[in-house]
Amino acid sequence: MITISKVIQDSAETLKRNSIVEPMREAKSLLALALEKDMAFLIAHPEYELKEDELNIFQSYIKRRSNHEPFQYIAGKQEFWRLDFIVTPDVMIPRPETELIVEAGVKILENIENPYFCEVGIGSGCITVSILHEIKKAKAIGLDISEKALKVAKLNAEKNKVSDRLELAKSDVFENLTEDKNFDLIVSNPPYVPSEDVPGLQAEVRDFDPYVALTDGKDGLSIIKKLINESPNHLKSGGFLLMEMGFNQSNKVREMFDLEVWKEIEFFADLQGIPRMVKAQLF
Ligand SMILES: C[S@@+](CC[C@H](N)C(=O)[O-])C[C@H]1O[C@@H](n2cnc3c(N)ncnc32)[C@H](O)[C@@H]1O
Repeated sequence: MITISKVIQDSAETLKRNSIVEPMREAKSLLALALEKDMAFLIAHPEYELKEDELNIFQSYIKRRSNHEPFQYIAGKQEFWRLDFIVTPDVMIPRPETELIVEAGVKILENIENPYFCEVGIGSGCITVSILHEIKKAKAIGLDISEKALKVAKLNAEKNKVSDRLELAKSDVFENLTEDKNFDLIVSNPPYVPSEDVPGLQAEVRDFDPYVALTDGKDGLSIIKKLINESPNHLKSGGFLLMEMGFNQSNKVREMFDLEVWKEIEFFADLQGIPRMVKAQLF
């Protein structure tokens, strides 16, 4: 039988050999997950001997993490906007910088009487579910080209008790919206990595986030361009577009806005100071 302290040491060594950053922290997190305990339990019981099934589960987690599978896919969850989200291999893991869209979206919608918004590429649902959770009077439609992702978004809407205010539909950008809509806001974190950059991404991202969530298969700007060109057909006059972008795309994105159609174009930086989100208002 092996104790908590010994199994942490051994598995941290394994993770380190496989180039996992912060192997000790990762080993502890995975052990806490396998034992369904918190960190305090690990600290308080270093001599606890793992049962055979606990050891088997933990070893399978260490094997997956050594293969660079992100912790969140192993755990099947990720916190975002202080809410819990289910994540499966069918959706991108919610990233902290994407909370910029939620923050700006809430500010826009909180003063509107019956706010109605749309998300293109809803994925796990983290953006739309968070906004609906904040603004109880809001309703939304979430679109995604991936049917599997839409199923995860549905689960997350149910988990966070907003599913009665969310409609979901499979669509390539706006293609399946049957009529021109009158949204107050359109939000999107589109796949914006140029396809030629995908091989150079870290293994955790390249090999595990869905390819269709990372890249448009082209220069990374094609869906951004569609959103800028087609959103005016689905927004109220004075409505807003909030969109995330890649780290060096802001200049190109700025040039895509027709200044006779859009006003108040503003870029917001993430915690690293990189322009990460654009906000624009329709005339
Ligand atoms: C970067 S992920 C964002 C997911 C989620 N909104 C988030 O912020 O974590 C992009 C999402 O867009 C979807 N997508 C990719 N191409 C699309 C398209 N042409 N039309 C609609 N959705 C698309 C992907 O399936 C994926 O769920």
